[in-house]
Amino acid sequence: MKSVLDLLEKVKGVIFDLDGVLVDTAVFHFQAWKRLAQEFDFDFTEIQNEQLKGVSRIDSLEMILNWAHVVASENQKIAWAALKNRWYLEFVAQMKEDDILPGSIALLHWLKQHGFLVALGSASKNAPLILEKTGMFCFFDALVDGNSVTLSKPHPEVFLQAAGQLKLKPSECLVFEDAQAGVDAAVTAGMKVIGVGSHLKGADLSVCSLMEVLN
Ligand code: BG6
Ligand code: MG
Repeated sequence: MKSVLDLLEKVKGVIFDLDGVLVDTAVFHFQAWKRLAQEFDFDFTEIQNEQLKGVSRIDSLEMILNWAHVVASENQKIAWAALKNRWYLEFVAQMKEDDILPGSIALLHWLKQHGFLVALGSASKNAPLILEKTGMFCFFDALVDGNSVTLSKPHPEVFLQAAGQLKLKPSECLVFEDAQAGVDAAVTAGMKVIGVGSHLKGADLSVCSLMEVLN
């Protein structure tokens, strides 16, 4: 059976999704969206949340409003997206070291020591803030996040931009992703992909956590 190290042997760059791969912030997004959904009496479920992983803030809001059958003006949507982000950032402000997912720092260290280029490929506009807060910023040779990308995963834009910044071909990159939309984006980009979690279809390999990668 293929191992992570076999896949790494074939690439020069590694691209990480952020939320749910390096940091345990996916749950903060869920809680903030759930609170917002209560504003319009909608019971937002974890199953629905799974479909929002990797999707931009505004596209996520559109999907929730659609599920809730709520029609809103553009100004109202902007206000709700801002409110959700305020609540999300309240969780982020309380982040502690154990919100960095196990194995993240060790893997980033190992990749740099072994000469791999490392990039972030995230839909989040809060990515730079979170990387600073967790002390992970210094490991990255390139950052592509919700501030520079216009198309949500499963569109491959985020990963293609990351490969471009690293000056690598897509086939020279390996992606770590926890969202089905992200795995699909990496496959469409022509990259190898490791799913973080057991529920992902189409990944070259799956791990339960980054802790497994070097073990
Ligand atoms: C992705 C998350 O990483 O970023 C999504 O999986 C989130 O849940 C998206 O909606 C955008 O994040 P932010 O921080 O810009 O609201
Ligand atoms: Mg994610």
